[in-house]
Amino acid sequence: MTQAVKLASRVFHRVRFPPQLDASPGSRDSGSVPQSLSDIPGPSMPSFLTELFCKGGLSRLHELQVQGSARYGPIWSASFGTLRTVYVAHPAFVEQLLRQEGPCPERCGFSSWAEHRRRSQRACGLLTAEGGEWQRLRSLLGPLLLRPQAASGYAGTLYDVVHDLVQRLRRQRGRGTGPPALVRDVAGEFYKFGLEGIGAVLLGSRLGCLEAEVPPDTVTFIHAVGSVFVSTLLTMAMPDWMHRLVPGPWARLCRDWDKMFDFAQQHVELREGEVAVRNQGRPEENMSSRHHLTYFLFREKLPIQSIVGNVTELLLAGVDTVSNTLSWALYELSRHPEVQSALHSEITAALACASCTHPHATVLSQLPLLKAVIKEVLRLYPVVPGNSRVPDKDIHVGDYIIPQNTLVSLCHYATSRDPAQFPEPNSFHPTRWLGESPAPHPFASLPFGFGKRSCMGRRLAELELQMALAQILTHFEVLPEPGAPPIRPMTRTVLVPERSINLQFIDR
Ligand code: HEM
Repeated sequence: MTQAVKLASRVFHRVRFPPQLDASPGSRDSGSVPQSLSDIPGPSMPSFLTELFCKGGLSRLHELQVQGSARYGPIWSASFGTLRTVYVAHPAFVEQLLRQEGPCPERCGFSSWAEHRRRSQRACGLLTAEGGEWQRLRSLLGPLLLRPQAASGYAGTLYDVVHDLVQRLRRQRGRGTGPPALVRDVAGEFYKFGLEGIGAVLLGSRLGCLEAEVPPDTVTFIHAVGSVFVSTLLTMAMPDWMHRLVPGPWARLCRDWDKMFDFAQQHVELREGEVAVRNQGRPEENMSSRHHLTYFLFREKLPIQSIVGNVTELLLAGVDTVSNTLSWALYELSRHPEVQSALHSEITAALACASCTHPHATVLSQLPLLKAVIKEVLRLYPVVPGNSRVPDKDIHVGDYIIPQNTLVSLCHYATSRDPAQFPEPNSFHPTRWLGESPAPHPFASLPFGFGKRSCMGRRLAELELQMALAQILTHFEVLPEPGAPPIRPMTRTVLVPERSINLQFIDR
């Protein structure tokens, strides 16, 4: 068995059919006897495998969540050989599970990535680290990224990046066939924006992604990110025997991660040289003018391999997430001109009267419709459609006891499209977040996850999205491509548009 196979089974092998558990009656609300893992309903193994491999289920994993919950109820399970995953698709049960987390929650969704680090002797970053190592990294990075003041410290850097995005959108109009203001494949443009933004925050320098000619190493990095997400799904889904027959996906996964590590290493080493020079002078002198995360990590004396591991993973985490959300936001706004017009008015009014008294970033973070639009986009298109946890102890969820070390998949896509939580769940209604309808369950839409292991880049992502939407709508009216049919999401580890989104950017 190759290591590639072991990594896939590592995700699942903990989830072998467990021995029957003794339920402790005192831990349940009702008097009924808790049921065990083997009582959970779900598809037979052949029908599950057929769905995944013969009916294109890998790219429809988000839809399988909705189907599964309609067919089997809010908790069901599916097996793969001796490997089993429990799916949880009701907000109350998602909450119940997450509130029982231990001090170092294990996600285990990306274990093929951790296996790559182990095999290539590279350091894990925050995404892939576990246990004590994860805890150390989290407490180091949290103050640098998650505190509101820390994130707003990057606003100046991001403002320049957003300015360049607007320039680039202008230049990209009218390439190819179609109306003169049409920009093709906006997600591709926003990938470059995402990488430029996170690169500037992490490294304090510009990568050139938004220039007319994008540097070749940056293009390589962007391709590697896309490709890694495709191979991740395949390596995780393929059973052992298939890895021996088809070694390509694992080889591709390693090759792409290596490219990303090389890219990060090259940039981190450049920064290391600068930090050394600066430390020979007065170390604190330039801190505020050189506000970048790598500098702080060097100052904390984190080993360079660990800095490289973290920078690589943060670069990856910052690209697809922000870019897809921005693409969907403009896609929906182009199809809902009344919402776009109201949002444009909110933004221009706020920026006009607040320009001198408060920084733009602070003003934007308080605009109700802007916040509601972003929440609604993340409800309809959660970038991470299904998250996971591996409990470190036996836990109660609904009527069941889920044993320690079981892989549990949290069906965020299904809960955020549940009509019981969100009337007209497939429609774009940002005003539902403005108190016009009864509030949904707080765990129904959980785009950034929850608790100790929640998204480390949340503040930064929100800032980037608010600034980019505000600037784009200030400069352009965004219209759909004439005659273009609706675009549906598909799963590529993260949720992406199934085909290119093309939009018109008309000067205001
Ligand atoms: C719209 C944008 C984004 C969304 C929707 C998003 C969503 C998520 C989700 C759902 C998780 C898993 C949370 C959990 O397991 O409870 C996560 C983790 C993470 N995200 Fe984000 N993310 C976004 C942007 C970013 C950005 C820009 C960065 C980079 C700074 C980032 C860095 C991370 C990291 C490092 C983790 C792992 C945290 C840990 O394991 O401790 N994310 N994100």
